[in-house]
Formats: sequence, C-alpha cells, structure tokens
Amino acid sequence: MKDQLVIFDTTLRDGEQSPGASMTKEEKIRLARQLEKMRVDVIEAGFAAASPGDFDAIHAIAQTIRESTVCSLARANENDIVRAGEAIKPAASGRIHTFIATSPIHMEKKLNMAPDQVLEQAVKAIGWARRYTDNVEFSAEDAGRSEIDFLCRICEAVIKAGAKTINIPDTVGYNIPSLYAETIRQLIERVPDSDKVIWSVHCHNDLGLAVANSLAAVLAGARQVECTINGLGERAGNASLEEIVMAVKTRADVFAVETRIDTTQIVPASKLVSQITGYPVQPNKAIVGANAFAHEAGIHQDGVLKHRETYEIMRAQDVGWAQNKLVLGKHSGRNAFKSRLIELGIELESDEALNAAFARFKELADKKHEIFDEDLHALISDEATTPEQERYKLIYSHVCSETGETPSAEVTLSVDGVEQKGSSDGSGPVDAVFKAIERIANSGAVLLLYSVNAITTGTDAQGEVTVRLSREGRIVNGNGSDTDIIIASAKSYLNALNRLHSADVRLNPQGDV
Ligand code: KIV
Ligand code: ZN
Repeated sequence: MKDQLVIFDTTLRDGEQSPGASMTKEEKIRLARQLEKMRVDVIEAGFAAASPGDFDAIHAIAQTIRESTVCSLARANENDIVRAGEAIKPAASGRIHTFIATSPIHMEKKLNMAPDQVLEQAVKAIGWARRYTDNVEFSAEDAGRSEIDFLCRICEAVIKAGAKTINIPDTVGYNIPSLYAETIRQLIERVPDSDKVIWSVHCHNDLGLAVANSLAAVLAGARQVECTINGLGERAGNASLEEIVMAVKTRADVFAVETRIDTTQIVPASKLVSQITGYPVQPNKAIVGANAFAHEAGIHQDGVLKHRETYEIMRAQDVGWAQNKLVLGKHSGRNAFKSRLIELGIELESDEALNAAFARFKELADKKHEIFDEDLHALISDEATTPEQERYKLIYSHVCSETGETPSAEVTLSVDGVEQKGSSDGSGPVDAVFKAIERIANSGAVLLLYSVNAITTGTDAQGEVTVRLSREGRIVNGNGSDTDIIIASAKSYLNALNRLHSADVRLNPQGDV
C-alpha cells in the first residue's frame, strides 16, 4: 500500500496573486468545480480577510464544493482567523491555514518580533483556529530561509497546540532540492510527534526549481504538496500541479506515494485557468503545453508510429488531451447546448444568462461550423469576465490593412450608452484599433501585454486575445475571443478597460490587508 500524497491546490489564492490574474466570484466557483471534478484534496479558495470579495468567494465555494476540503488562508491574528472560520463554515470539510514568518530577515525586518514572540503568536493562532475546525494547517512563512533549530521549536509547539498539517514554504524560491529535502528530513526526525501530522511543502519557482524541490521533499517524507494549475502564482509562480501529479504517477517506481487525482481532467483545468486569468500556456510547457505530445523530428515520429513508448513516457489522453472533439454545431438546440455546459461543470445562474450564451453560441456556429469544448469555455469566459456595469461596448469596427499602406481603424463604441466614434492609423491593424479606442476612452492606461492564442486547431479557429493594462498601480487582464483576431483584440482591450473601470477589481488580493 502506498501513502496518499495530498494535493493542495492554491490556484485560487497564490495563483490569484499573479499580476492581473484576479478572478470574479463566478470564475472562482467555476474553477473550484473543475478542481473538485479533478479530485483535488484541498482547494485553497482565498484569503478571507483580504477583502469582502475574497470572503464572499470562499463562502460561496464552501457552499458549492462537497468532495474536496475548502480552505482559507489567514495570518496568525485573531481577526484574520475569525474571517477565515466564518468563510469556510458551510463547507462539508473545511480547513484554516494560518501562517507567520519564521526567517530571521522576516521576523526582524517585516514583523519586528523576536523569535519567542513569533512562536507564542503561532500557538495562539492555532487555538483561535481550532474554535472553528480541527483541520488546521500551520505555515512557517519563509521556512526556506529559516534556522532549522527554530523551525523545530515552532513546529513542536504548533503540533502540541493541535495543528494537523505543517507546511514548510520556500516562499522566495531560494532552495535547491538536496538542501530542501534535508530540511524536511531533519524536521521529521527531530520534531516530537512528527508522525502525528502531515508534512507539507509549498515551493516558489524563482530559480525554476519549485517542482524539483517539492518532489525531493516528497522523497524525504512530505505527504502534502501545495501547487497550482499551470504553475501560476506570485512572481515566477508555484510548483505546477500537473507536473507533480504526473511525475509521481509516471515514476511510480521511485515515489512511495499516490494521488487521488483524475489526470484526464488536467488539460481541461489548465485551459480553464488560462482562459479565466488570461495567462497563456507556453507551447513547450510540460504536460499541458500545446507541443507537450507533438513529435516534430522524423526519427521520433517514426519511432512513435512503430511503438509509442520509444519516445513517449505518458499518454496524451491520460492527461486529457485528444478530447478536442466536435461537440455541437449550427443545428444544435438549446437543450443540447445546456446539457453540454452542465457536462463541462458550467451552470449558468438564470434562464436569461443561458439565453444570452445560447444566442452567442448561434452567432459563433454561423461563423465556425464545428464548436469544441474549448470554444464553449471561451464563450462563457467572455460573458463571465464582462463586469456587470459594462462602460464600453464595441458597436462597429472597420480596419484596413493593405500591402504598402499604413494600417488604419475606425471604431464606434457605446460609452455609458452613448455612441462615440474614433479613428487612427497604427503600425499594424491591432495597434490602429487600440489607438482608435483610446481616442475615445483616453484611459491613460499602459499596455503591459498583448497575446493571441488559437483556441482550437484550424484556420477557422477562434483567436483568444489577452491584454494586460496598468493604471495607477492597478493591473488588469482583459480577454476576448472571436474568429476574427482584430475583433477579438478590440474586445479584449475593451474588456480590460471595463475591468479597470469596475470597482470590484482589487489592486492585489493580498495588498489591501
Ligand atoms: O509562499 C508562501 O510562503 C505562502 C504562504 C502564505 C503559505 O504563500
Ligand atoms: Zn506562496
């Protein structure tokens, strides 16, 4: 019998700390449903004390999810823990995850606390959390740069206080596998009652070693890994869930653990995260990149055709590829559309929302005869990322791009219900259309990122465009999809402007605590 490796997904919390990746409540619920379908053990749904919006999203996820534990992060103070405890109350299984920094630099420069005070605060925090649940996790923030003797002391104290999971984060991604594994090994050896708790790891990817460090820790005895879909997360991101899960599964000869994950849900989860956050997946990303299973070299293709395992260590369909199947077409009716959405875990709140989505589906089916699951996700994402108060709407656009001529664009927007026209030249058609929009909006925003991705294969595929804008310290992503990528670009730019304008987009999920 193998030990179970607990998969703790923090896409909704640490992942959301990526610039511009903040998600609406509806998006968070949709992603949480997909994580549950994938059989993630623990979903860290957010940081309840960060804002009323975070609290509401965690509460709604706790009401919705039945098969995974729903967790809220909390600093080691009473107010944060009360907020976390209230937020997870409706959960079938809830957890409070409380943290305090333990490295000399964090204790002295950030907390201005002596080690003994930090230890005392950590113990109190476990007590406050246990008023709500026995499922309490403690994290020693910046453990990766903490002194091992102090780590042993604080871990012993929080175990005595009743913590059930002890997390040893490499907060700044400073570790290398052998040293990190040694830290875990020593903690398990030296801390009294270490066998009464689950040792967890949480690695950031600043040196590109998050997955390697996490796996080394598993070999040293860690039995929970905190990770995110597509490796999304603060700065260079967190350890990627798909890489951890597939490494453990593919190298079952090396790892004495197994996960509960339904690996066929990995690619759908990756696509959903990318669509919701606007963070594209690089084509050569392990497991979920578009090229992860593509064999280009003739010698490889020949080998794979003769015997798949000559060059493939995993099967594409085992991680959810090759499900790019035709699902609906021009003649599909409202019921077929609704059933497919339900199969995809998408439940629209009202008949009105369903009718609006169905109307958009019909428009799309007129332009593109084959509609795939990915198209449906994009269509719903477009609807969901539109703030309720949509200030700017695209009414019309006309773009000229001709060999030897300067590209130009004319657009008509509805701005707070009033039609306005703008036009501009540009270095290319996208540049021209963005400038034409800005002639009207005059937003003062700076464009940080523009990227286009084909949602499915073929030249009739929808292009999905992500635009990242920043203004006065706020960063937002906008998404738009269309079979015409200039229109998709205009839509994504307007979506970003609407989000900049909307009050419910925060500066940073943890910045306003
Ligand atoms: O990176 C980190 O230390 C964290 C903790 C709050 C667990 O995200
Ligand atoms: Zn982190």
